[in-house]
Amino acid sequence: MAFRFAAAAFAALVLATAIFFARMRDNDESGGAVKGSPRLPTSVLPRHYNLRLKPDLQACVFDGDLSVDVEVVEGVDEIIINAADLKVRDGSVSFRPTGSSQVLKPATLDLVTDHEILVMKFKEALPVGQGTLSMSFEGTLNDQMKGFYRSSYSVGDEKRNMAVTQFEPADARRCFPSWDEPSFKATFKIVIEAPADRVVLSNMPVENEKMSGDSKVVEFQVTPIMSTYLVAVVVGELSYLEGTTRDGTSVRVYTLPGKAELGKFALGVAVETLPFYTEYFETPYPLPKMDMVAIPDFAAGAMENYGLVTYRETALLFDEKHSAAANKQRVAVVVTHELAHQWFGNLVTMEWWTHLWLNEGFATWVSYLAADYLFPEWKVWTQFNELTVDAYRLDGLVESHPIEVEVGHVREIDEIFDAISYKKGASIIRMLQTYLCAKTFQKGLASYIKKFAYRNAATEDLWDSLSSESGQPVKELMNSWTKQKGYPVLAVKLVGDALELHQSQFLSTGQPGFGEWVIPLTLCCNSYDSYKTSLVRGTSARIPISHEVDTKSKGKWIKLNVGQTGFYRVQYDDHLAASLRSAISGGYLQPDDRFGVLDDIYALCKACREPMRVLLSLMEAYSAEADPAVLGHLITVSRGVSWILADAIPAVAEDTKGFLSRLLLAPAKNVGWDAVPGESDLVSMLRGDLMLALVLFGHEPTVIEAKERFYEFLKDRNTSRLPADIRKAAYSAVMRSVTAADKSGYDALLQIYRETDLGQERTRILSCLAASSDTEVVREALNLILTDEVRNQDAFFVLGGVRREGRETAWSWLKENWSLLRSRWGDSGFLISRFVTTTTSFSSQEKADEIEEFFRQHGMLAIERTVSQCVERVRINARWVEFIREEEGFKELISELALP
Ligand code: BES
Ligand code: ZN
Repeated sequence: MAFRFAAAAFAALVLATAIFFARMRDNDESGGAVKGSPRLPTSVLPRHYNLRLKPDLQACVFDGDLSVDVEVVEGVDEIIINAADLKVRDGSVSFRPTGSSQVLKPATLDLVTDHEILVMKFKEALPVGQGTLSMSFEGTLNDQMKGFYRSSYSVGDEKRNMAVTQFEPADARRCFPSWDEPSFKATFKIVIEAPADRVVLSNMPVENEKMSGDSKVVEFQVTPIMSTYLVAVVVGELSYLEGTTRDGTSVRVYTLPGKAELGKFALGVAVETLPFYTEYFETPYPLPKMDMVAIPDFAAGAMENYGLVTYRETALLFDEKHSAAANKQRVAVVVTHELAHQWFGNLVTMEWWTHLWLNEGFATWVSYLAADYLFPEWKVWTQFNELTVDAYRLDGLVESHPIEVEVGHVREIDEIFDAISYKKGASIIRMLQTYLCAKTFQKGLASYIKKFAYRNAATEDLWDSLSSESGQPVKELMNSWTKQKGYPVLAVKLVGDALELHQSQFLSTGQPGFGEWVIPLTLCCNSYDSYKTSLVRGTSARIPISHEVDTKSKGKWIKLNVGQTGFYRVQYDDHLAASLRSAISGGYLQPDDRFGVLDDIYALCKACREPMRVLLSLMEAYSAEADPAVLGHLITVSRGVSWILADAIPAVAEDTKGFLSRLLLAPAKNVGWDAVPGESDLVSMLRGDLMLALVLFGHEPTVIEAKERFYEFLKDRNTSRLPADIRKAAYSAVMRSVTAADKSGYDALLQIYRETDLGQERTRILSCLAASSDTEVVREALNLILTDEVRNQDAFFVLGGVRREGRETAWSWLKENWSLLRSRWGDSGFLISRFVTTTTSFSSQEKADEIEEFFRQHGMLAIERTVSQCVERVRINARWVEFIREEEGFKELISELALP
C-alpha cells in the first residue's frame, strides 16, 4: 500500500484535493461558511474514540494508537478525516465493519498538508452501518503551544518538560487523526502511558492506573459526548489544592511544585462559580470533577477543555503580596469565563466557527454576571464598559467584520478570536438582556441549554429560545447586530417638545456607512425615574418628550443609552451636549452614563466629527470625578489625547501633559501613595492607574516619589512602600530616565525579572522594559525577546511597552527581524498578529502606505485581517492629526488649560 506525504507528491495532492472538494458538504446550508471551505464530508461519522498516547518528555515525541467506532451513513469508498504534522504508520490503517471478521485496508492513504486531511481510499464502498477505524501514528511534542506540545520549567539548573494539549480551534488533528470540527461530537476513552512519577490529567477522572517499572498506564473514564477541540491531556510534575462545591463536585487547582498555595484564590472562585451556573442554567455541571491547571507556556489566557481547564500562570495564580488587585480581578474573570464554557460551549457547542461568538461573547458576558455575584464591591458592570469601548474601536473600522463571520480556511479562525466575537458579542448580549429583562433572559437561556445539551447549535437557535420565552421578535432585532458589521450613531436634536433622532453607521474614518439597525433605545429626562424605552427602526425617528423638559435650567438633562447597555453611540446637538456637561459636573449622572458621554465625545473627535476643544472642555467637567471606572476611562482618554496631540502639534505636547496632569492630580491626591488597610480593590487599582498616568505625563513630583520607592524596593523586596499595584508606575518612572549611557535602571529591573518566579511580576516588568526614549535601550529590550529569557508567550508584552518615542525603532526592529519572528511565532496561532498591532501606532498616510507595502510583500494568511485593520487605524490617526492642525485657536486654548 502506498503511503506518501502529499507535499512531496504534487500529483497526489491535486488528486486528493479534487476528491475532497467533490465530496464536500454544501457549506452554505450548514453554518454559513464560504463556498469551497474545507469541511469534512458527513458520510462517515465518529461515535467513540479509543485513544492511547505515549509522550516521551525527553525526546519530545509521542506515539499514538487510535480506534474509532464510526457509523457509515453512506456507502462511500473513502474516509476523510483531519490530521496534521503526524506520521500515520504505514500499514497500520484498517477498517472493520462491526460483526464482520473482514478487515479492510485502504488502497491509498494521502495526507494532504494544505487541507490538513487524511484521505483513506478503499477498493470498494464501505458497508453502511457500524464499523471501527484503527491506526497508529507518531508525532512531535512541538514548541508552538498548540496540538500536543511541550512546556518547560526549571528544577534547579535542570530544564524539564511537561506535555500539554491545546486543541482549539483546530489542532486536535496535530495530536491524533480525527473529525476535528465542532459538530462531530463523540465520546472519548483516553489512555496515557507516562513516566511513573508524573501526574497525568485528562477531561475525566482516572478509572484505572497500572504501574509497570518506570512507567504507568493511566486509563480515564469515558467522557460524555463532546467536540474534539475540548479534549485535553496534561502530563507533568504538579502539586494541587483541592476544594468541593456545595453540590459535591471536586475542584482542584494544579500548579508547578511549590506554587499550589497561589491557586487558593482561583479555587475559591471556582468552588462558588460552578453552583452559580448550575442554578443560572438550571442544569448541573455535567462532569464528576473540575481540574484547573497553570501551564508555564500558554498561548491564550486560558482554555475551557471539558473538566480540565488550562491557564497561563498569570490568569490562575494570585500572590497576596506580589500580585496587584488588577491581577486578582483578571483571575476571577478568567475563571468565571472558562467555567461558563462548561455549559455554553462544551455542553452546547457552536455548529461551526461562524458562531464562535456564541461561545466567546456569551462566556464573556456571563463571566461578569458571576463576578458581580461573587464580588459586588468590584462593580464589574461599570468596568464592563471598557469591553464595549474596545468593541466600538474595532467595529468602527471599515475592516471590521460581522459577529457571524464567514470562515474560509482554518488558519483564518484564529484571527476571529477578537474584540468582535468577545466584546461586541458580550455587549449585544448585555443589550438584549436589558431589553428582555433579566429573568426572562435567564429562563430563555436555561431552556436553550436544556434543549441543545450534548448537541450543537447556531445563533438562530438561541434567538428562537429567547423569542419563545419572551414573546419578542428577538431574531429580527438581533440579526441587525450579528449579520452586518458596524454599529450606529444616533444624532439627537431637541425640536420643540420632541427628540428627533437620526441613525447612521459610525465609522472612525469619517466615511458614510450603509448599515441600519433595530435599536432598543433607552432614555431618561432630568431624572432616572423617567426611564423610557422604545425600538427604533429605520433611519429617523421622533420621540415626544413630556413638557417639563427644560434643559436650560440647572440640573436638567436628557441622556440616551441609559446605563450604556446599548451598543450605539449618541451625538447630541450643542444644546443637549452642554446640558449633559453640566449634569456631569453637577453630579446628576450615574457612573455608566458619565463613562459613556466621555467615550462618545472622544470617538466623535477621533472621527473628526467634533473639535478637540469640545473634548477638552468635557474632560474638565470630570474634575471632581471619584468613580474608579470612570476615572480609569478618563485616564485612557487622556493618554490618547496626549499621544495624538504630540503628533499633531508637537509645540503643545508639554502643555497638554500639564493640562492632563492637573486633571488627574486631585484624584491622585485623594487616593495617596499608601494603601489604607482594608481599602477596596478598586481604590488599589485606581492608585496604580493614576500614578502610572502621571508618570507618563512627566509629572515631576510623582516621578521622583515613584523612583524613590523603587530603590527602596530594590534593596528590600518585602518593603511595604511599593505594593504590586503601583509597581508599574515605579518601573515606568525608572525607565524614563534610562539611557544607553546610564542603564542602571534597566539592569535593576532585569535583575528583579530574573529573580522572581511570579508570572504577573515578570509580565509587569516586561511591559516596562522598552519604555525608554533612547533608541539603543529600546533595541536592547526588544532583542531580549529573541533570547530564551523571555518565553514565546510573553514577547508581546515587551513590544506593548514601547512608547511614542520608541515606535520608529520598534517598527524597524520588526522589519529587520520579521523572518525570524515569523518562523518562531508564525505557527502559534494569533500570537504573531500581536507583533503587528503593537508596532504600528503611527499617524501619517506615508506610514500607512509603508506598513501596507511591507506586509504586501511579507504577509501571511493568519495576519491579513489584522494588517488591514492596523493600516486603517494609522489612516484614521493621520486624518485626525490634520483635523486638529486646522482647528482654530487650539494652541492658545491648550496653554490656558495647562498647569499654572
Ligand atoms: N476559548 C478561549 C481560548 C482560546 C482563545 C482558544 C483563542 C483558541 C484561540 C478561552 O475561553 C478564552 O476565551 N480565553 C480568554 C480569556 C477570557 C477571560 C477572555 C483568553 O485566552 O484571553
Ligand atoms: Zn472563551
